[in-house]
Amino acid sequence: MGETLADDGATLAQLMDMAAAALGGADARRESEALLAAALRIGRATLLAHPGRRIDGEALARVQAWIDRRARGEPLAYLTGEREFWSLPIKVTPAVLVPRPETEELVAHALALGGEGDRALVDLGTGSGCIAIAIAHERPHWRITATDASQAALDVARANARALGLDRIEFLHGDWYAPLAGRRFDLIVSNPPYVAEDDAALDDPALRHEPRSALTPGGDGLAALRHIVDGAPQVLRPGGWIALEHGAGQAREVAALLVARGFTHVRCAPDLAGRERVASASLPSNTTGLP
Ligand SMILES: C[S@@+](CC[C@H](N)C(=O)[O-])C[C@H]1O[C@@H](n2cnc3c(N)ncnc32)[C@H](O)[C@@H]1O
Repeated sequence: MGETLADDGATLAQLMDMAAAALGGADARRESEALLAAALRIGRATLLAHPGRRIDGEALARVQAWIDRRARGEPLAYLTGEREFWSLPIKVTPAVLVPRPETEELVAHALALGGEGDRALVDLGTGSGCIAIAIAHERPHWRITATDASQAALDVARANARALGLDRIEFLHGDWYAPLAGRRFDLIVSNPPYVAEDDAALDDPALRHEPRSALTPGGDGLAALRHIVDGAPQVLRPGGWIALEHGAGQAREVAALLVARGFTHVRCAPDLAGRERVASASLPSNTTGLP
């Protein structure tokens, strides 16, 4: 932290200043508030309303340790062990990607594409389970399956589903479609790894703490998207839909992959910031499953 504290601890205001100085950047103040509130298990309002309150002992040690870890790039969600997604508390460990707000757009698309009827949906590369869980929460009557190649991630996803009373989600271990042999779904959703291997973003201290296999499939970043699009016709029912999150700048390639595989209604929707991050498409109803 670069500053020595007096034996009798520090005030909340002092800790806020120290955290903001250690974290730096445009968001330092907001991040420091979130970190202190979580480390001290108090609300932000309490933090702001009592700047003179003294913190010492174990609580102070925790704040100092968290500021150090956060300053080295560790995501706040790994420190708190939790991230809110779709207004649901999702537990996270370093075995899973920290759910991103952009991915809520993918959830919204999947819900809109599936409508209100009975549906069977598969979430490929479920990580923390956030997508499958958000959808299961909104559509209690849908049959939801989620897969991941990481057993450690599936353990986290299962624990999340259980904690939220959504045990009916089926979790399967294996490479993309491998655990689904012979099964058919109305909807495929996925937020696969899509960062190119040589993308400098992977050196970002924040991303260095997340599982590399959740971030990049290697090469140009499109391998997982290619594999998922290629296999989709064998797993979707005729007339079924696919919705995929992809990187900013990959919309044209992903749309071209979908068109080349025989999908129709190919659409790349802009997110709130105007960047195209979700591609969706449907399998023609008269198809019998493309080879
Ligand atoms: C970008 S993360 C998405 C996690 C979560 N769905 C989310 O949106 O936060 C990609 C996930 O794909 C999984 N994955 C990577 N390669 C895979 C493969 N070959 N088969 C299945 N899952 C894979 C990773 O373990 C990781 O959980």
